[in-house]
Formats: sequence, structure tokens, C-alpha cells
Amino acid sequence: MKVLAVYPGSFDPVTYGHLDIIRRGSRLFDRIVVAILRNPEKKALFSLAERKRIVRLATRGIPNVTVDSFDGLLVDYARRRGARVIVRGLRALSDFEYEYQMALMNRRLDSEIETVFMMPSEAYSYLSSRLVKEVVRVGGSVSGLVPPEVERRLDQRIGNGTGGKKGRGGRRKGKAS
Ligand code: PNS
Repeated sequence: MKVLAVYPGSFDPVTYGHLDIIRRGSRLFDRIVVAILRNPEKKALFSLAERKRIVRLATRGIPNVTVDSFDGLLVDYARRRGARVIVRGLRALSDFEYEYQMALMNRRLDSEIETVFMMPSEAYSYLSSRLVKEVVRVGGSVSGLVPPEVERRLDQRIGNGTGGKKGRGGRRKGKAS
């Protein structure tokens, strides 16, 4: 029997940590669906359409990966897709409590669906979408942490337009102080 897995998340934006998990999942399961949460209450930096486009672009070399979006309950979505597995990445102990609660709640909602935790490469164990946005906002480089397409879009949206490199004299564009 073919095993379909769903890898849900906000992916705002996708990082090399997410992509590491997707690659590992793609070797383990017959198909892995990256399911991006459509959540109008949570203000995302990138629109759902942009996030989908970026993940599609970043995963185009992996044949058994598809990208989709969902709203409502994750287990309902997984059931509709015929998925028996939910994949979540576990970076550090600090992730554990939230992930544990979520996995057990999902199990209570649908006991047929199993959550499988996967560890990304230790090189990405500290990496998060939130930190990536914060670093770009204050003028740092996230090169090597996100795909170039994400880097470019982040720089346009919240960076200083110089790709994380400070302008001449180390000063960022904008009002001089
Ligand atoms: O990348 P994130 O923000 O950590 O992903 C969280 C996500 C999307 C997996 C979670 O918020 C979710 O599953 N939301 C859908 C609503 C739902 O099913 N909630 C009950 C799970 S406890």
C-alpha cells in the first residue's frame, strides 16, 4: 500500500530546514504533500500564492513532492487527501512541547493518522522562518539558509535591497542618523 504523507506548516517563508525535511520525507514516503496553511487571522509576510510558488520552485527537482494549501482542521485535510501520516520537523527540545501537544490532539481527532517527527540536518537545527525574517529586517544576510529566490524576495520586501550587504561605509539605505 502506498503511503502518502502531509507536511503542514506556514512556510512563511520556506527555509533550507523545511527543504531538508521534505527531502528526507520524500525518501521515506511514496508521496509527500507540502500543505501550506491558509490562515487569514495570522498576518503572513508572503501571500499564500507566493508561498506556494516558492515551495514549488524549491522542490521541483523532487518528483514525489506536491504543494497544496489547506484551511480548517489538518486531520480533515489529511483524510481528504488519503494521507495516513503527518510529518513535522523537530529541531530542538524547545519544539517538543508544542509538537507533542499538537500530535496528541491530532491523534484524538483522528486515531488513524500518525504524526512522524523528523530531525533536520544539525546545520539547520537553529533555523526558523521567524529568525530569517528578523535577520533580514535588521540588515543581515540569510544566504545559505533559504533558497536564492526566497533571499531575493525577502530583500525586496523587508531588506534594504542590497542582498543583506550593507551599503558603502556600512550604512543601510534610508534616513541617516
Ligand atoms: O509552521 P507552523 O506555523 O508551525 O504550522 C502549524 C500548523 C499549520 C501545522 C498548525 O497550526 C495546524 O495544523 N493548523 C491547522 C488547524 C488544526 O488542525 N489545528 C489543530 C491541531 S492541534
